[in-house]
Amino acid sequence: MTTAPHKPALNAGVMGWPISHSLSPRLHGYWIEQYGLEAGYTALPVEPENLENALLSLHTNGFAGCNLTLPHKEAAIEHMSELSKTAREIGAVNTVVVREDGSLFGDNTDAEGFIQSLTHQCPEWKTTTKTACVIGSGGAAKAIVVALKNKGIDNIIVANRTVEKAAALSGNAISLSDIGEALPKTDLLVNTTSLGMAGQPPLEVDVTALPEHAIVSDIVYNPRITPLLKAASARGLKTAEGIDMLLYQAVRGFHYWFRIEPEVTEDLRIHVLTGMKK
Ligand code: ATR
Repeated sequence: MTTAPHKPALNAGVMGWPISHSLSPRLHGYWIEQYGLEAGYTALPVEPENLENALLSLHTNGFAGCNLTLPHKEAAIEHMSELSKTAREIGAVNTVVVREDGSLFGDNTDAEGFIQSLTHQCPEWKTTTKTACVIGSGGAAKAIVVALKNKGIDNIIVANRTVEKAAALSGNAISLSDIGEALPKTDLLVNTTSLGMAGQPPLEVDVTALPEHAIVSDIVYNPRITPLLKAASARGLKTAEGIDMLLYQAVRGFHYWFRIEPEVTEDLRIHVLTGMKK
């Protein structure tokens, strides 16, 4: 585990643009209350051209650090004094720690969040997964490919509408329209696209082509059970829902800033999910 030197300040937040839909204040706010901390976690609207200033003023404003979301995760890299190995591998920062001397340490907890989420929901994945198929090639897909590689999964097929983007993530890239060929050899299927999200068309994947032991994971959490997960469950496959990746990626940040390793519970899931804006 990478550790970052840390000072006991009690403010944190999430920088993004736009930021009003972020569930992070609700999530961290729940833990702050649960653990009785005199602390704050706020949504910080930061336009791209103000990112550097906003990061540099964290220290003077008494912040222990912050999370970063769209569109700042990649741009923040150059403003960090030090990066964790995972942040370097993914090429993006989602968690910033302000050190005692004001310097900034950048980490990426998305990969760990995905692995924790999968491990808590389907612990058998570690022994059953020889081949994973990741659908999508955006930032989330990149973090998940890095996470799986670091866990020793060598066969990672990346399927994407734009196959060139998939090729940047894996030597085994295919077009999403050809996914039918990959499914019979897929032990773990992960959707990282927005397909299946409320207001979006569903992801059309024939889950009957997957082996009987396959696990299906979706990072979409609105709705909590996506059409993909519903179809997989109806076929008797194990599934891992998306909300836990959001919750588990937040654990390490909370620990960096507030020195408490917070718990992920069903109460927390419901609290966060009921905060979603329609
Ligand atoms: P993030 O960084 O949050 O992972 P992103 O960078 O916007 O999100 O990536 C979205 C992913 O969903 C991409 O892989 C995108 O495919 P393209 O690379 O071809 O654009 C995929 N995606 C979004 N809408 C899609 C659709 N209607 N059909 C197929 N794939 C879609």
